Amino acid sequence: MKLGCCYFPEHWPEDMWADDARRMREMGLRLVRIGEFAWSRIEPEPGRYDWSWLDRAIETLHAAGLEIMLCTPTATPPKWLVDRMPDMVAVDADGRPRGFGSRRHYCFSHIGYRAECRRIAAALAKRYGKHPAVVSWQTDNEYGCHDTVLSFSQSAATGFRRWLSARYETVDALNTAWGNVFWSMEYRSFDEVDPPNLTVTEANPAHWLDYRRFASDEVVSFNREQVDILREHSPRQDVSHNFMGFFTEFDHHDVGRDLDVATWDSYPLGFLEQFWFSDKEKQAYLRQGHPDIAAFHHDLYRGCSSGRWGIIEQQPGPVNWARFNPAPLPGMVKLWTLEAMAHGAEFTSYFRWRQAPFAQEQMHAGLLRPDSADAEAADEVRETAQVIEELGPQKTRQAPVALVFSYEAAWVCGIQPQGQSFRYLELAYEWYSAARKLGLDIDIVSPDADLTAYQIVLVPTLPIIPDGFTEKLAALTCPVLFGPRSGSKTDSFCIPDGLAPGKLRDLVPITVTRVESLRDGVTDPENKFDPPRWREDIATGLEPEFAPEDTAGVVFKHGTTRYVAGWPGRELLRRLIERMADEADIAITNLPEGLRIRRTATHTFVFNYSANPCLFGPEDEVISPAQFLVIADGA
Ligand code: GAL
Repeated sequence: MKLGCCYFPEHWPEDMWADDARRMREMGLRLVRIGEFAWSRIEPEPGRYDWSWLDRAIETLHAAGLEIMLCTPTATPPKWLVDRMPDMVAVDADGRPRGFGSRRHYCFSHIGYRAECRRIAAALAKRYGKHPAVVSWQTDNEYGCHDTVLSFSQSAATGFRRWLSARYETVDALNTAWGNVFWSMEYRSFDEVDPPNLTVTEANPAHWLDYRRFASDEVVSFNREQVDILREHSPRQDVSHNFMGFFTEFDHHDVGRDLDVATWDSYPLGFLEQFWFSDKEKQAYLRQGHPDIAAFHHDLYRGCSSGRWGIIEQQPGPVNWARFNPAPLPGMVKLWTLEAMAHGAEFTSYFRWRQAPFAQEQMHAGLLRPDSADAEAADEVRETAQVIEELGPQKTRQAPVALVFSYEAAWVCGIQPQGQSFRYLELAYEWYSAARKLGLDIDIVSPDADLTAYQIVLVPTLPIIPDGFTEKLAALTCPVLFGPRSGSKTDSFCIPDGLAPGKLRDLVPITVTRVESLRDGVTDPENKFDPPRWREDIATGLEPEFAPEDTAGVVFKHGTTRYVAGWPGRELLRRLIERMADEADIAITNLPEGLRIRRTATHTFVFNYSANPCLFGPEDEVISPAQFLVIADGA
C-alpha cells in the first residue's frame, strides 16, 4: 500500500513546490493527487488554456519521484462558464437555483455543461495522458457532495421525461405502474410529467423512486463520458472517482462498474459527529471514530469496483465541517491507515498536505501547519510508512460473510420510511457491526454479486427483489438472513400480490399481514429480543425460532433461510449471527468493546478503537488505546 497526499500547487507560491515535494518523499509519501479544483487556473478565460504552471508542477513532483493522480476539475466550473450558461446550475427542491461561490454548482443533466466537461477532460487527457508521472485519473470530486445529486432544473425535467418514455414506452403504462388514478394524478403525455418537488403534500412514492433512479443514472452517464475520454487519450492509466461516507444518493455500484479503482474519503471523526450515533458512542469514540465507520466503507467500496480500491482523502487531524471537530488520539492516524491496509487498500492518501490559511477550509488540519511546520500527524505518517514497509504487501483473503447492500433499498426506505427511525444505512451498519464484533470479515456486495463463495449471507433489507435474486439465493446452501421489509414492494413501488415478502415467499413461506413503527424507548427493556423501531405480524405455518413474550414470533426459519420480522435489536442480531456461524462452522470471537479484527491472507490485525486498554488473546495481551497488533499466521 502506497501513502500519499492531496496537494494544491495552485494554492502556494511556485518557489515552495520543490521543497514540498522533497518533504513528501521524506515523510514516506509516493502518491500525490492534484488538480480537482483548478479549472480557473487551467483555463482562466474561455478557450485560453494556461498549462505552464501545471506543466511545471507536474515536473517538480515527478522530479522528486512522486506519482501523480490527476483530476478533471469539473466540480468547480469557473465564473465565466456559469455566466455564459446561467441555467447550468442545479435547482434545489424549493425551486431555487444554486449560486456561484463554493463548488458543485452544476446540474448533471445540463447538456451544455456536459459538453464543457468533455472539452476540459479531453484537453487534460491529451496533454498529460501519457506523462510518465501520471499514474491515474480522478473524475470530478465527490459526486453528490453538498446535496447535489438531485436537481429540479428545466434540464433535469427534460431528461426525466426522456428517461420515463424509454422506461414505460406509453404514458398509460406509467399511469398504471405508478397508480396515478389515486388523487387524479393521471397524465396524458410524458411531457406533462414534472419532477416530484413542490407538490402540496408528498408526491407519489413511485414518482420519487423513478426520479431517484433517473438522477442516479445521470451521475453514471456524466461520469462515463469523462471515463471514456480519459481511456481514449490515456489508455494505460487507472481511472477512479472518490466516493463519500454514509452516502446513498446515487448507485455507487453502477458508477463503480465504469472505474478501475474505487476511492473514498475517510473522515471517521467527522462522520461519528454528523451521523446517528448515540451521545454515549460519540463520547466513547470522540477521538477514534466508531470502530466500524472506516471498515464499513472499505468493505463497501471494495465491492463497488472490481475489487481495487484506495483512500484518497484520509483525515489527518481536526476537520472543519462537522458540528464539533475534535483532534484524533495520538496513534489514530496510523491505526486508520493500517485498517485500510488490512482491508486491501492500494493506497491511503491524506487530505491535505498543508493546511490552507485562506478560504473555506482554513480550519481543516493537514500534514503541515499553515506555517509549513510539521503538524501532529506528520510523525505518525513517517512511522506508518515504516510499519507498512516492514509488513510487506498484504493480500485480501475470501471473507466468510457477504452483506448485500442496495442503493435502491436506501431510496425506498428514505421515500417511505413509515417510521422516522427506519434508516437504511443505519440498519445495514448495525448488521455489519454485529458481524464484525464477532470477529468476522465481511464483504459488502451488490444484489447482483455472485454469492457462491460465502458461508453466511446477510440481507438487512431488500424491499424490491431484483429478477433472479430469489433463484440465486435458493441455490445457496449456507445460512441466509433477511431483514424486515424485504420483498415488501414491487419494482414500481406497490405492495406485491399476496403481500410481503412477495417473491421471497419461495424461500420462507410467510405472509406479513401488518407492520407498525414505534417511537424510541417503547421496547421492553427486560426483553432482549423485543424489536425496537419496527415490527411485523406474520401469518405462517412455521414455528417461530424466536418468540419474545406476547408475540407470535420475530424470527422464522425455513431450510437455511431466516426472516426477521422487525428491526432486530443488537442482542438478537448477535444471537442470530452466532447461530448462523455455528451452522456454517465458522469460528467467532466475542470481542471486547472497541476491539476489532481483520485478517489478510497472511496476517491478523487487531485494532483497539477504545479510549481504554483492551485485552486480547489467550495470553491476555494488553493493547493500549489507539494501538494495534499484527500477528503473522502461525505465530
Ligand atoms: C471532502 C472534499 C475535499 C475537502 C474535504 C475536507 O469532502 O472532497 O475537497 O473539502 O472534504 O474534509
